Amino acid sequence: MIRRNVAVSTDEIEKQCHFMEEIREMPSRPRTYHVVTYGCQMNAHDSEKIAGMLEKMGMLEAEHREEADFVIFNTCCIRENAERKALGNIVWLKEIRKKRPEMIIAVCGCMIQEPGMAEILLRQYRFVNLAFGTSNLYKLPEMLFTILNSNRNAVYIENEDVIAEGLPVRRLRNDSAYLTIMYGCDNFCSFCIVPYVRGRERSRERKDILREAETLLKSGVKEIMLLGQNVNSYGKGLPDHTNFAGLLKDLDKMGVPRIRFMTSHPKDLSDELIEAMAAGSHILPQFHLPVQSGNNEILKRMNRHYTREKYLERVSALRSAIPDIGISTDIIVGFPGETEEQFLETMDLVNEVRFDSAFTFIYSPRKGTAAALMPEQIPEGVSSERIQRLITLQESLQKETLSRYIGLEEQILTEGISKRSSDAVSGRGKHGVSITVKGSADEIGQLLNVRITGIKNNTLTAERMQNP
Ligand code: 5AD
Ligand code: SF4
Repeated sequence: MIRRNVAVSTDEIEKQCHFMEEIREMPSRPRTYHVVTYGCQMNAHDSEKIAGMLEKMGMLEAEHREEADFVIFNTCCIRENAERKALGNIVWLKEIRKKRPEMIIAVCGCMIQEPGMAEILLRQYRFVNLAFGTSNLYKLPEMLFTILNSNRNAVYIENEDVIAEGLPVRRLRNDSAYLTIMYGCDNFCSFCIVPYVRGRERSRERKDILREAETLLKSGVKEIMLLGQNVNSYGKGLPDHTNFAGLLKDLDKMGVPRIRFMTSHPKDLSDELIEAMAAGSHILPQFHLPVQSGNNEILKRMNRHYTREKYLERVSALRSAIPDIGISTDIIVGFPGETEEQFLETMDLVNEVRFDSAFTFIYSPRKGTAAALMPEQIPEGVSSERIQRLITLQESLQKETLSRYIGLEEQILTEGISKRSSDAVSGRGKHGVSITVKGSADEIGQLLNVRITGIKNNTLTAERMQNP
């Protein structure tokens, strides 16, 4: 398979804008849309671009998918259960459409880009009107125009590693914004399907990122979340020798109140980046650093390119430069061949590091990846039992780990009304931990000064302080 690496030309983007106008003028066009998103922040941000384009075509968002004229599923395939969930919901909508035959159903995202998926869709999901992969996202206007004018279903899957600048975006939040700095991944961790479905690593040009950040800052955002599969290797292949540390310094100078980023790879976490974080005024003291396993043999077979010792050394380096930093991680249990002893080394690492939080996953074989072909796949029962032990350990440690924040003054960016109490709001503090404090709906999206008072259900509680 030949992959092409292209910056989408401004002519091409203009062509797509033209299709948006054309659709807007069509009397029989869909009037409402609903986007269903699965998976990571990258997908959430792609959905913001989809919504942006659909609104430019004159569509309004429908609250519920069953009411919309155009429903689009933006899928994820990182683990089998993500895929199963999406397919189940797509089939459910087929039934709804029997009552509303004018409804258009589209499926896009990582799952479509999986090897063999196009054939499955064409054979078993023929009710899907439009399917397209991650490479084709920017062509949504043209694809929709084509099916609206031909009454035919279409599947578009290309393998271009594109960067498309200048697409309209309809942001879900006004206070906190996603900003993609790089796409794809070249790491080929042996368990992971991302490099196959999101393509080769490519970085956006620094000037385009800074321009977008300026626009966001002017629009009043209080926080920017930089996105990429491995933001630490930002800049590879760019002519101006920018790296992630340099980009962070530029953004920090710009004065965005809060800067966060994800995800990072331990092998690319440089001292220069740690120094830039420590010296910055707006870069939040939090770091998501997926470890995946605490055993060297497993790390090697995962193709992670670091050892347990190296990981621990990077954690120490972060903590000595930024003593109050909040560190979170991802862990996979039940990787092929993982023995009880090797799993215990992961438990031991969790004990040693004391993560603020850990996302734990049972290994899920993904067709086309190296690990799916490895012998000694671990039985489901063994993996479930291991993950349960890991979760129990992390939860018990987390209480202790989070107690170090009690008494500290913090600032939270409120995200919504607390799930547990209608007169409280919750949001993230600078360390990345969720904090709940008395407040009301009109304070959502505001920065509030608080003092941490306690821990409840693995999140922090706080009292209000005077805002400056
Ligand atoms: N099985 C289980 N977990 C996986 N992840 C990635 N691929 C798989 C897989 N095949 C996890 C990793 C990664 C996170 C986003 O998802 O821990 O860091
Ligand atoms: Fe997947 Fe590894 Fe790339 Fe992360 S770094 S996206 S786990 S291949």
